[in-house]
Amino acid sequence: MSEPLVIGIESSCDETGVGIVRGHELLANEVASSVESHVRFGGVVPEVASRAHLSAMVPALERATATAGIDLAEVDAIAVTAGPGLMGALLVGISSAKALATHLDTPLYGVNHLVGHVAVDLLDHGPLPMPSLALLVSGGHTSLLHVRDIATDITELGATIDDAAGEAYDKVARLLGLSYPGGPIIDKLAADGDPTAIRFPRGLTARHDLERHRFDFSFSGLKTAVARWVETRQLEGKDIPVADVCASFQEAVCDVLTAKTIDAAEYLGVDTILLGGGVAANSRLRGLLEERASAAGLEVRRPRPALCTDNGAMIAAVGAEVVRAGLPPSPLDFSADSGLPVSRVLV
Ligand code: KG4
Ligand code: ZN
Repeated sequence: MSEPLVIGIESSCDETGVGIVRGHELLANEVASSVESHVRFGGVVPEVASRAHLSAMVPALERATATAGIDLAEVDAIAVTAGPGLMGALLVGISSAKALATHLDTPLYGVNHLVGHVAVDLLDHGPLPMPSLALLVSGGHTSLLHVRDIATDITELGATIDDAAGEAYDKVARLLGLSYPGGPIIDKLAADGDPTAIRFPRGLTARHDLERHRFDFSFSGLKTAVARWVETRQLEGKDIPVADVCASFQEAVCDVLTAKTIDAAEYLGVDTILLGGGVAANSRLRGLLEERASAAGLEVRRPRPALCTDNGAMIAAVGAEVVRAGLPPSPLDFSADSGLPVSRVLV
């Protein structure tokens, strides 16, 4: 079979995404975000997100097929995010994908959103050397993954024990009175701040923590430390140096993420580190990881920023891998699994 033509449908959170790939070639990636509707709540409201998916799905599919210049009859497979994510939001994508697959009589794959954040890099940089280490950093997850085969063999080496990295960015932005999502805003403000101005704690890096949590992360203590620091300044009647707080907070997050990633790569004996998920768009994370990886003789790969945040192309990329691996399609009666573990590529 020539390279498979796959449509990917994503609706796990607040982005309605439809992507189309032919093997590793990206043909279309249409994303409609409902983020504006959530800004005043400071986080995604599940019911609002589900309704937005309902109205955005068909137009996104129409735009994607027009951009790709394909005829739906040529499609080899449809892939849809089956989890993890918001239940109602996932169900909109799954129902749409089932309707489309039934209509076109094509195989349907219910795929793991987290694996999508890894597989999407293949669209930018081609086949990933195996085995590799992936650092997955998003609004809902922070994990170190040992990737031996994207379609069949991914295991989690460590993960956050409380907040995800993106969640910490969003919460710190909120307490500084900044908008949602906080990651890109803090990233920008931090550029004008001093990362050494305030020494915030580095979670799970003390010797006794490393014994049990060498490859795990914790960001809730950091978030509380930022909140306490800001409160104390306010009680003292002093101004908050927002850029310095952003830069110092960002430095604490990126220091821990990169130190543990390099440690994990050396522990596993892999040469390549893949950075994925929404927080992978962060400029300091990428810069520090590249600096430390190059000192350790390791390669870093990261998809272009537009492919780091949620989109349909990442789901299509997983679809192309599972088709290539010859895996059987998902049964048509599969449902959403909001807690799908990363080790399960297909639902
Ligand atoms: O992967 P993603 O689009 O959605 C989830 O699956 O969660 O990630 C969204 C998260 C948000 O928390 C957002 O604040 C964060 O990614 N993010 C960033 C940046 N861009 C997005 N965090 C730090 N720096 C950025 N430049
Ligand atoms: Zn995501």
